[in-house]
Amino acid sequence: MKMFDVYPLYDVTPVSAKGNIVTDKKGKEYLDFYGGHGVISIGHSHPYYLKKIKEQIDHIGFYSNYIKNPKQQEFATKLGKLSGCKDYNLFLCNSGAEANENALKMASFQTGKSRVISFANSFHGRTSAAVAATDNEKINAPINKQQKVTFLAFEDIEGFTTEIKKGDVCAVIIEAIQGIGGLDQPTTEFFEKVAQLCKENGVILIADEIQCGYGRSGKFFAFQHHKIQPDIITIAKGMGNGFPVGGVLIHESIKASYGVLGTTFGGNHLACAASIAVVEVMKKENLVKNAANLYEYFKAKALAIPEVKNVKGKGLMLGLEFDFEVAELRKNLIFNQALFTGGAKNKHLLRILPPLNITKNDIDVFFDALKAELA
Ligand SMILES: Cc1ncc(COP(=O)(O)O)c(C=O)c1O
Repeated sequence: MKMFDVYPLYDVTPVSAKGNIVTDKKGKEYLDFYGGHGVISIGHSHPYYLKKIKEQIDHIGFYSNYIKNPKQQEFATKLGKLSGCKDYNLFLCNSGAEANENALKMASFQTGKSRVISFANSFHGRTSAAVAATDNEKINAPINKQQKVTFLAFEDIEGFTTEIKKGDVCAVIIEAIQGIGGLDQPTTEFFEKVAQLCKENGVILIADEIQCGYGRSGKFFAFQHHKIQPDIITIAKGMGNGFPVGGVLIHESIKASYGVLGTTFGGNHLACAASIAVVEVMKKENLVKNAANLYEYFKAKALAIPEVKNVKGKGLMLGLEFDFEVAELRKNLIFNQALFTGGAKNKHLLRILPPLNITKNDIDVFFDALKAELA
């Protein structure tokens, strides 16, 4: 049997990784400024994380959600404290798309409505309603297009007001910093107005923090740069540092009932051990602060390079904008400079998503490699 061929692959085969270094089968070491797709938050193979997962698997790795698993509550309590979001209840699932799918479903249950407002260049995942709310025709099959979704531009308050007042909207879903789309952000003024109009019209506001959350923006959640409170927050990626896990934080004003959401694998013992280790390390090593602190240093170094036309993003969720398409540069950085970076829907943008525990020295190494490649 062969693999279903959906990914254009770079010819690199990693066999081990530590901190922000990935080693391939020939022993070549790569600097990871992509975090394996924005996933590696506390660094590859963090010793505490490995210890906790190994300890857990020696006891129990999985059992169904119809028995008690105190690790789930332990994680929820620690996440609530670290994120400052204590007024939410947690539903655990397995991926980002699944988190958004459940969030949209809860919004629809809660309001009895079904239309979604999403934004230009958004990405929310590849499942039914999540992909329909994603601004990419190519990955929406006819079955997904049955969903009712309206796409608007950031800052289009007039359009937003008109749409939300039609009375058939269940949810507004928004990334406080767009990931795959290309690091665009709504202004605080727009975000506040959106939140206010959601409240006035009984519409659920979903903050998709799957990429921009979990400390990456220099605050635990990227929406916390603005003065808004979403009804639902979705998380995945950095949450498990590579262990597949996702979550939906649902404001306590939205009540749970038995069976309304459910999953076989979500919140299993191993996923909880990984997730607990991540929040503990993030707290102990002050990683949210580290992401915030390194931003200005990174930005200053980036803007000193004439080819870099713009620096987008916040914290360690960054985009370097050039006046040429970056696909070739990205490939050359891998093969000539042993450096992983990411691309975006905006083809002029190099997406930078390193582990949150990098140092100024790592940033220096990154820019030396980038400059060498641009020379
Ligand atoms: C903002 C955002 N939402 C949702 C998803 C989907 O997550 P997953 O690939 O885990 O389903 C992604 C993945 O890149 C994302 O960046």
